Amino acid sequence: MRSPEIIRLPNGQVMVKRFSLPRRFEHILAIVTFVALIVTGFPQKFDTSNFGHWVLGLFGGLDNARYVHRAFGVVFCLHAITHLMVAILGALRGTMRMSLLPVTQDLRDAWQNLRYYMGYREHGPKLPKFDYRQKFEYIGLVLGGLVMVASGLVLMYPMLLAQFLPASLIPAAQVAHSNEAMLAFLVLVIWHIYGAVLSPEVFPIDRSIITGYVSAEELEEHHAQEYDRLFPHGHGPHHGHAAAPAVVAQTPPVAQQVASRAE
Ligand code: HEM
Repeated sequence: MRSPEIIRLPNGQVMVKRFSLPRRFEHILAIVTFVALIVTGFPQKFDTSNFGHWVLGLFGGLDNARYVHRAFGVVFCLHAITHLMVAILGALRGTMRMSLLPVTQDLRDAWQNLRYYMGYREHGPKLPKFDYRQKFEYIGLVLGGLVMVASGLVLMYPMLLAQFLPASLIPAAQVAHSNEAMLAFLVLVIWHIYGAVLSPEVFPIDRSIITGYVSAEELEEHHAQEYDRLFPHGHGPHHGHAAAPAVVAQTPPVAQQVASRAE
């Protein structure tokens, strides 16, 4: 059963659904596979370092680490294919909002935010469900993921591919795979972990990817355009009504947990 879009907690707080269950599951899968690929990939890249040597030893040697890396590489490929298929089918059928795809408004938002940060505007722009920074990160992840899948497959089946494609593709794939892995790792550690965990706005963690919900106040502050779409007349008791009654539901178990932790 689909969880409701908007819920009211027993303490009166209004919560808005941000991530469905499949998206939250995907995020956990992405964390597990990415960590496993980093842990088994980087010691191969830095195999002459003491640390690389030590990690390879934990796996029982280079060969084992390579097997584990390849196994998680296959999981990563299947996840990437499924994700893209679901998104494409959802777009074609019109059952999925393409809220992570960049639009020209994002450029205007970025420009207006820059002017706001520099003190030329009194307010930042009203941002959509996913703002230009989040879209940039997502598109980077998809494109970087495709580079990792394509180069990883070349490294996995070099002899097979050399029968059809130029053999120079193999060292090129090795360079691409190795450097894109480093780029992805740095983006994750510096950008994503900061934005989702360490930033004072969300510290100790942005729980929306775990619970699936954000409070209406957070939505209003960070994604005002989406807030206006969902609550054209506001959400508090002083605004008359919370939202269209059809989408308001009473507290499901997950939201009760959110409430108890928020109190
Ligand atoms: C984001 C995900 C990934 C990361 C961070 C990653 C990381 C790495 C790193 C750092 C290396 C060592 C490169 C070097 O020696 O300089 C490597 C090697 C390798 N990776 Fe990945 N990788 C990822 C995804 C994949 C995928 C999806 C596949 C399979 C389709 C794959 C297959 C391989 C293979 C075959 C090698 C060569 C080592 C061997 O022969 O087992 N990787 N990876």
